[in-house]
Amino acid sequence: MKDIDAAAPAKAKPALPDAQTVTEVKHWTDRLFSFRCTRPASLRFRSGEFVMIGLMDDPDPKTGKAKPILRAYSIASPSWDDELEFYSIKVPDGPLTSRLQHIEAGDEIILRPKPVGTLVHDALLPGKRIWFFATGTGFAPFASLLRDPQTYEDYDEVIITHTCREVGELQYGKELIDSIRQDELLAELIGEGFADKLRYYPTTTREESPKMGRITDLMRSGEAFRDLGVEPLNPETDRAMICGNLAFNLELKDMLEEYGLEEGANSQPKQYVVEKAFLD
Ligand code: A2P
Repeated sequence: MKDIDAAAPAKAKPALPDAQTVTEVKHWTDRLFSFRCTRPASLRFRSGEFVMIGLMDDPDPKTGKAKPILRAYSIASPSWDDELEFYSIKVPDGPLTSRLQHIEAGDEIILRPKPVGTLVHDALLPGKRIWFFATGTGFAPFASLLRDPQTYEDYDEVIITHTCREVGELQYGKELIDSIRQDELLAELIGEGFADKLRYYPTTTREESPKMGRITDLMRSGEAFRDLGVEPLNPETDRAMICGNLAFNLELKDMLEEYGLEEGANSQPKQYVVEKAFLD
């Protein structure tokens, strides 16, 4: 008798809900990686927003059912890009990143297409200079905003500070800044001189680099302002977005309030906004 099972096609793997396909993965250090994936055709977002992404957990041994493990990830790519880009930490025992760090091109991830967030131009009043303050993977939303023409149209000066523990952790940001400075499309859209508006201030705290120290300390001592040749923040002219670890966000928020800046929101734009960088 013919063996029916052997002739049957292999059972198709159940498709993930809201699945997108990974197109590229880059490992920057043993703690950091970035990846790109397909973009849902219907997904519209504002630069600086985040979405929930994740993978399916192992099935529950009792019920046999698996649940998704989802986390909020800032979209690092600009809103005009065909694909989406994300920049992530790898936490060895993190529920999501311990698995996500092993994804490869062709794998599927879950992406809930509902973008939200406070690090958006709409939450700020018009100003002359915008500061983007990041630590670690908090650089991600700024990777999107720095590639958005509106950032250069709205401000005369754009300063991005990035504080990391080690030099290798600055590489993703450094390469992005270099690529923006040579971006012909942005130059065409906003004018040749747009790159002169962009100032990059990277610092490290645990490994030797040209500029060492936490950005908060460098501002308090006045060193950062002297290096950049600008006055300390002024609520009349300066706007700011903060994205980093919790302690950094709280400390910098207090400092900005001391300079006289007030926290804004989508519904009530003011002088600065803040969001926590994702830590698994
Ligand atoms: P430090 O090395 O002195 O702790 P992490 O990788 O832990 O998220 O930290 C990223 C960077 O943020 C590190 O360089 C760290 O400096 C810095 N950092 C941590 N807490 C603060 C804070 N309260 N203010 C400013 N920088 C901070």
